[in-house]
Amino acid sequence: MKDFIRSVYRRVWVLPRIQKLYRQLTIAQTFQHIYSTKSWGDNGEPFSSGSGSRGTAALRYCEFVLEFISEHDVHRVVDLGCGDYAVGSHIVQASAVDYVGIDVVPELIEYHKNSVFNPRARFQCADITSDHLPPADLCLVRQVLQHLSNEEIGKALANLRGYKYVLISEDVPIRPRVFNRDKPHGPDIRFYFGSGVWVEHPPFNMAISKSWEIPLTANSLLRTVLIARMPDPRNETTAS
Ligand SMILES: C[S@@+](CC[C@H](N)C(=O)[O-])C[C@H]1O[C@@H](n2cnc3c(N)ncnc32)[C@H](O)[C@@H]1O
Repeated sequence: MKDFIRSVYRRVWVLPRIQKLYRQLTIAQTFQHIYSTKSWGDNGEPFSSGSGSRGTAALRYCEFVLEFISEHDVHRVVDLGCGDYAVGSHIVQASAVDYVGIDVVPELIEYHKNSVFNPRARFQCADITSDHLPPADLCLVRQVLQHLSNEEIGKALANLRGYKYVLISEDVPIRPRVFNRDKPHGPDIRFYFGSGVWVEHPPFNMAISKSWEIPLTANSLLRTVLIARMPDPRNETTAS
């Protein structure tokens, strides 16, 4: 009963106010504000991407990615929305890949450039919905799309054309009420409305080759999908 009341309170009172605030901001301003106000928690570091970037589920995700890397002869990884690099650093340290972490928050990228000294790890500030992205064999997008609107997700997905392997990971409810309920960009996710992001369903309709699930809570899981390779209509060679 307590959980039900808390969930209704969040949906009816908290989320509309959060969404009103962030709706007025650009994507970059939104995530700058989230990090500067520690909206995803404070782990004692200058930037925290939240509890989802640490703990058992994050480690299981890293193990899964490391296995994918060795099974698919991956040498270059691009991590779109790398956040605080808790996940990325694990992958870099436990493999031999060259890694590029991309994020829309300039000060977070500057921080990584000045504090990560591994020659196999580089960082770049870019907006995945609009900017040109660096080449790689494997593209990771973990817990990023869930914070964007459906229109922004559509643009980001179109920007991934040309990558050989794309793994998209999203927190989703185990028993969804609706797929891809729209929301403005912000720190919140669709979970409180019984929804999440499933890229194979409308309005995205992406072809996926495979999916994997890692349990998160009694009601949610981290779902990773491998996108079937998309032909690049721009016929560019940079992202392949
Ligand atoms: C919840 S964090 C996830 C961080 C990391 N992927 C992980 O799983 O630990 C989402 C990150 O995506 C970044 N992000 C959101 N929208 C973006 C965009 N359009 N372009 C680049 N980065 C974006 C945010 O700044 C934030 O660092």
